[in-house]
Amino acid sequence: MAQPGKLGVDFKGFVAAIGWFNYKLLEPLLPRGIHLANIACIEHLNAYLGDFYLQRDLLKNSDPKMKRLFYWHFAEEIEHQRVAFDVFEHLYGSYFLRVIGAFLVITLFFAINTGGTLYFLWQDKCLFRSSTWRECWNFMIKESALINSLRNTLDYLRPAFNPAQKNNYRLAKRFLSDPDNKKSFKICPTP
Ligand SMILES: [Fe+2]
Repeated sequence: MAQPGKLGVDFKGFVAAIGWFNYKLLEPLLPRGIHLANIACIEHLNAYLGDFYLQRDLLKNSDPKMKRLFYWHFAEEIEHQRVAFDVFEHLYGSYFLRVIGAFLVITLFFAINTGGTLYFLWQDKCLFRSSTWRECWNFMIKESALINSLRNTLDYLRPAFNPAQKNNYRLAKRFLSDPDNKKSFKICPTP
């Protein structure tokens, strides 16, 4: 597997800019309740991505090692999707704060991901290829990524939403209990 620093893609400036914006500029301006509301929403988006990719096996044609790494991460996101939400509800339980956090996170999540994707495609000299945009169309429209993302966002904004209502643990379990996948994981002893 290639080392990230040797891929020929300059990602350090992008990561540093996002880090500065999020942690130096935005974080000190926001109260703790919003921090936690942000984390709860980020975890919801992560679990949604895990659900979406595992359900459709979207990385089936990828490098097997990278596929296993990503699928492990997707399964792990589904596994702990309730933690931050439960802590937020326990400490604040405010629908108003949850919506403010969701507004911030969803706006930034899509802006940063879209900006990053365009920037890396440009570096890869793929940005102006028709095949890139065909692939984008297929993913967004044919694979229903766009409509599912909108549905998922609206679901999170329901006052009665709770991650416990999601019925997707079986996706994580299916991946994590597969003997072939298990062989690749190292069990770390707890201190
Ligand atoms: Fe997470």
